[in-house]
Amino acid sequence: MKPGDFRTWPISDRLAAAPAMLHPSERRAISYFAGKAYQFCRTEGLFVDAGSFVGGSLVAAIEGVERVAPSLGAVGQRFIAYDLFKANEYMIEKYPDHFSGRKPGEEFLDIFYKVIGDYRGLVEVHKGDIIDAPRLDSRIAFLFVDILWSWKTNAFAIEELYPRLMPGKSLLVHQDFVYPYYPWLPISMEYYSDYFEFFDYAEYSTAIYRVKKSFPKTNGLFVAGLDIDVQLALLDAAANRFSGWARGCLTLAKVIHLWQKDSPCRVVRVATPCRRAIWQRASGRTVSAIFQATPRRLITR
Ligand SMILES: C[S@@+](CC[C@H](N)C(=O)[O-])C[C@H]1O[C@@H](n2cnc3c(N)ncnc32)[C@H](O)[C@@H]1O
Repeated sequence: MKPGDFRTWPISDRLAAAPAMLHPSERRAISYFAGKAYQFCRTEGLFVDAGSFVGGSLVAAIEGVERVAPSLGAVGQRFIAYDLFKANEYMIEKYPDHFSGRKPGEEFLDIFYKVIGDYRGLVEVHKGDIIDAPRLDSRIAFLFVDILWSWKTNAFAIEELYPRLMPGKSLLVHQDFVYPYYPWLPISMEYYSDYFEFFDYAEYSTAIYRVKKSFPKTNGLFVAGLDIDVQLALLDAAANRFSGWARGCLTLAKVIHLWQKDSPCRVVRVATPCRRAIWQRASGRTVSAIFQATPRRLITR
């Protein structure tokens, strides 16, 4: 397995067309790395899709395993899907073909089951907040995480999911890593870099990790309490793994993190020197992020 190999991995028309909040490159990466995790772990471990939405990432993972396993029957019911399965305004607006007529807060498990179709029998589904789901009692071969909306869920992943990964074999795929809104994720992954090796990147947001050693039982909120300068240095370390747009995005994560920490003066100090880089590198989406996070007068002349 070499970085970048996933780029030539074929995906089915079904996966390409699945409604999902994923770039084609991310669909390919999930499929490829789930297949690799199966090859490394064989009969051991679960394939966890933490944040399924209507099933795109899950279809990608199952399809990847299907391509390398003797048969899906031989793999068994080892796929675990977690989601709130509750519609919000973004979903209704962006996926009108599937969500038309739904109201915010309405359940959408039916859409999920339609999308995963004949894969349904392979999947154990947990509806609701992942933090309240029954704890897993097995190791994890493949962990796809697309659910880290808060420090709290991030802490759950650290406490309950990472310790189940198998060193040298399991693979960890983080959506929303190259993304300014969830600074807790790059901060944590850099802090725990003794345990995880950054391995690959799939545009636009996904980072892929190998597991270097067994992750210990630890307090998942510990990283939230680190000194702000340490957290900013960790965000710099994450940004420095990338160039161009991706680096700009992670630089914005610093701005947003400081803003969330209620340090407006430091926002100015961080935002001002990198302002040009942000404007040059960031997409419309990340530019709007900086506007949401920072008063306009601080970042424009
Ligand atoms: C970005 S979407 C996932 C996209 C999906 N992986 C795909 O392939 O399109 C994030 C999902 O996480 C779910 N989610 C967020 N916080 C959660 C929580 N605490 N427990 C369970 N699901 C959660 C949301 O309902 C949402 O569907």
